[in-house]
Amino acid sequence: MSRTAIVTGASRGIGRAIAVGLANRGYDLALNDIDRQKDDLNDAAEEVRGLGRKCVTILADVSDASDCKRAVAEAISGLGHIDVLVNNAGILKLSTIDEMTPELWDQTFAVNTRGVFQMTQAVVTHMKERRYGRIVNLASLAARTGGPGQSHYAASKSAVVGFTRVSSMEFGGFGITVNAVCPGIIMTEMGRNNLREPERVAYFEKITDLHRLGQPEDVVGPVAFFASDDSAFVTGQALNVDGGIFYS
Ligand SMILES: NC(=O)c1ccc[n+]([C@@H]2O[C@H](COP(=O)([O-])OP(=O)(O)OC[C@H]3O[C@@H](n4cnc5c(N)ncnc54)[C@H](O)[C@@H]3O)[C@@H](O)[C@H]2O)c1
Repeated sequence: MSRTAIVTGASRGIGRAIAVGLANRGYDLALNDIDRQKDDLNDAAEEVRGLGRKCVTILADVSDASDCKRAVAEAISGLGHIDVLVNNAGILKLSTIDEMTPELWDQTFAVNTRGVFQMTQAVVTHMKERRYGRIVNLASLAARTGGPGQSHYAASKSAVVGFTRVSSMEFGGFGITVNAVCPGIIMTEMGRNNLREPERVAYFEKITDLHRLGQPEDVVGPVAFFASDDSAFVTGQALNVDGGIFYS
C-alpha cells in the first residue's frame, strides 16, 4: 500500500515543490488549492502523475471549515486513506501596524492559523482510527523573528508553532506526530513580494550563513523527513530551514 499525503496550497511555490518531492519519494497525493489557482493545480497534478503516482486535486479554501471537511473526505475517497497532512497554504500581505485593518489581520489568521487547525481537525479522526499519522505545518522564520510589516503574519505563524506543540501532546498517544518547519526567505511569489528591494535581498544573503536565499526545493527534505518514519520519535518540534539565520 502506497503512502499518501494531502498538501494544501500545492499549485505553486513551496507546496508544489513538496508535492513533487513526496511523489518522487513514492507518495500518492491529494493536492489542494483555491479556485483561482485551478489551472496551476491541474498542472501540478499532471507533474505528479508523470512521476507515476496517483494524484487527486481538491479545490477548497482552508479558511472555510466545511471546505476542509470536504477536502479530507475527497482525499480519503480518492486515495483510500491519508497518512500525511502537510499544512502549507498561507498568505502574506505586508502592512505596518499603523495601517493594519482588522480585516487583514483576521484574513491572515483565518488562512495561516485557523486553516491549519481546521485541516488538522478534519483529518485527525481518520488518523486516530488508523493509529498512524504525520502532520507537518509550515510555520516561518517570522515565528522566530518577523520583519517590519509582518506583525499579523509573525503572530499567525507563532500561533502555528504553539498549535503544533499542543497537537503533538494530544495526538501522540495515537501514533500521530506533529511537527513544523520554519522556512527563511524562500524565492516564491510570496518570498519575492516580501523582498522587493535589491538592498534587502543583499542584506539577507549577507546575514545567511550559506550566503544565499532559499529555493522551494530547499524545504522539501525537512518536510519529507517529518512525513516519513525516519522521524517516528520526533514530534512537537519546529525546525528552522533558513540557511542559517536564526538559532534556537
Ligand atoms: N516564501 C517564503 O519566504 C516563506 C517563508 C516562510 C514560510 N513560508 C510559508 O510557506 C507556505 C508556502 O508559501 P509560498 O512561499 O509557497 O507561498 P505562495 O504564495 O507561492 O503559495 C501559497 C499557496 O497557498 C495557496 N493558498 C492561499 N490561501 C489559501 C487558502 N485559503 N486555501 C488553500 N490554499 C490557499 C495559494 O493559492 C498558493 O498556491 C506558506 O504557509 C508560507 O507562509 C513561506
